[in-house]
Amino acid sequence: MSLLDHFDFFHPEVHNNPYPYFAELREKAPLFWTKSLQAHVLSRYEDVAYVLKNPALFSSVDIRVNGMRPQDRNELGELSSVTNLVNSDPPIHTRLRGLVSRAFLPKRISEMEPRVRELSRGLVAEMTAQGEFDFMDGLASPLPVTIIAEMLGIEISRRRDFKRWSDSLMSATAESLRTGKMSEEATRSAGEMFAYMKEIAEKRRLEPKGDLISLLVQSSEGVEALSPAEVNSFAVLLLIAGNETTTNLLGNSLLALIRHPEQYEWLRNNPSREACAAVAEETLRYDSPVVGLMRRATQDVELGGGKVPAESTVMVLVASANHDPRKFPNPERFDPQRDTNGTLSFGHGIHFCLGAPLTRLEAPVALQELMERAPRLGFASRQPERIDYGSSFFLRGPRSLWLRKS
Ligand code: HEM
Repeated sequence: MSLLDHFDFFHPEVHNNPYPYFAELREKAPLFWTKSLQAHVLSRYEDVAYVLKNPALFSSVDIRVNGMRPQDRNELGELSSVTNLVNSDPPIHTRLRGLVSRAFLPKRISEMEPRVRELSRGLVAEMTAQGEFDFMDGLASPLPVTIIAEMLGIEISRRRDFKRWSDSLMSATAESLRTGKMSEEATRSAGEMFAYMKEIAEKRRLEPKGDLISLLVQSSEGVEALSPAEVNSFAVLLLIAGNETTTNLLGNSLLALIRHPEQYEWLRNNPSREACAAVAEETLRYDSPVVGLMRRATQDVELGGGKVPAESTVMVLVASANHDPRKFPNPERFDPQRDTNGTLSFGHGIHFCLGAPLTRLEAPVALQELMERAPRLGFASRQPERIDYGSSFFLRGPRSLWLRKS
């Protein structure tokens, strides 16, 4: 019997460890129809990269998930139909990307290093002062959300609310992809957040500061400003695209290190910024925080040994592409010293992750601070053997990770 006979993205076994299933898909069914998403699944490196490189053939607009279009899913209420970076194609995408990319220039990001370090150091100190601690709660989750809040210019008095909105929207998005519905609590959070973002966007439009919202609402050098709805949609996108992904990367890095004592020892012997960056890069490949991305085929396309029909939904498994032995030899081996060039975890082509430089700052700095204060961590007794990966299939990382110094 093949592993694929009962393949379903939401099956607990697949969710727990999808990699053996991905290997079967790559070998036996590189183009695979899944009822669980009503999508054609591509799993080989070459096919995944091809889809992401060809936005004219594979659009990011009006993608049906489980047969439902974004406006039918209604996952973010009024914002579902607002265009943002990830759900647009050129030329709209080109305009939006031009507008917001100013805020993510590598130089601007590298200037944030002292703050990222200070925050990481404080969080690590507080977390490791306890005998047993949840790494996700103590470091992996608060670090990215705090940095985004500061970047956007969310007022200190509203930071707690911001974290609550972020958590709520994140779980709501995962749930609504499955059910097409959003909980009352999430709808309330979205409403509160949108009202606040509108208020702050208006304040910054009248009186700009050095933050991201001010940048987005001001026109400059011929670049036109975002509308209030676009600002909201972008802020939500940052929350969803930028927070849980980085949180997951940190969680997956720690899991990989603890499960690979030799590699952990290698890092302990040389806890440099470069080595920490190498661990983050290899974790991106080995256990990608983003499992798959969706597109809509704009015409019939021959791919993966079959035909992808026009208007169908395509799911490209970046996590599987990263394990394709045609691209990465011995892909199941976690090896921070390998060449990770070409990893698809940040996507590829025009939608390549705008936040990649920020993640590439946050993850190594956080790991380095952790190695400094707590170089030897192991699972705490209360950590169940089976990791809880939550309900989202598209984003992968532990919900909690109980550790202790060993
Ligand atoms: C796009 C992954 C962190 C903001 C993307 C895409 C991927 C991705 C795969 C492409 C989506 C597509 O092609 O449909 C990740 C991973 C991260 C991470 C794995 C961390 C480990 C961040 C951060 C931010 C961010 C920290 C911002 C603060 C964005 C934005 C886009 C994007 C705005 C849309 C770009 C576009 O469509 O042109 N990300 N991301 N991401 N990401 Fe990230």
